[in-house]
Amino acid sequence: MASSNAEYGSDSAAELWRLIGPVTELSNKPCRLIYSELGYDSDVCLFHTKGEFRAMDARCAHSGGPLCEGDIEEADGVLRVTCPWHDYDFNVRTGASETGLQQRVHEVKVEDGSVFVKHQGQLSLKPFPVTSED
Ligand code: FES
Repeated sequence: MASSNAEYGSDSAAELWRLIGPVTELSNKPCRLIYSELGYDSDVCLFHTKGEFRAMDARCAHSGGPLCEGDIEEADGVLRVTCPWHDYDFNVRTGASETGLQQRVHEVKVEDGSVFVKHQGQLSLKPFPVTSED
């Protein structure tokens, strides 16, 4: 099984391609939460709908609701995720909402059977361990 936090390059401040995991594993759910080493507000939703992977920030731009728990529906050819807290919806591809809010989206690529997301910090399918720096 592939490591969840491998990356190209070593500068964690830059946006780099982060290995998430194998396509075969990640394509069996329409949406899953990907943890960021940068913390809760930087976690990512990885969508797999209609044979495509898409990624956006996991916490809703409105008030931080859990977009990974939202319904994903297609209307007029546009895939949208609806936030479970106040029902604002966001275009899965662009992050735009008809409310005027903009959810940050991330580039995704599939290479050699693995899914990568471009992000500033390492990403993982499992939470990063809490570290004490005192
Ligand atoms: S927190 Fe998502 S719509 Fe309000």
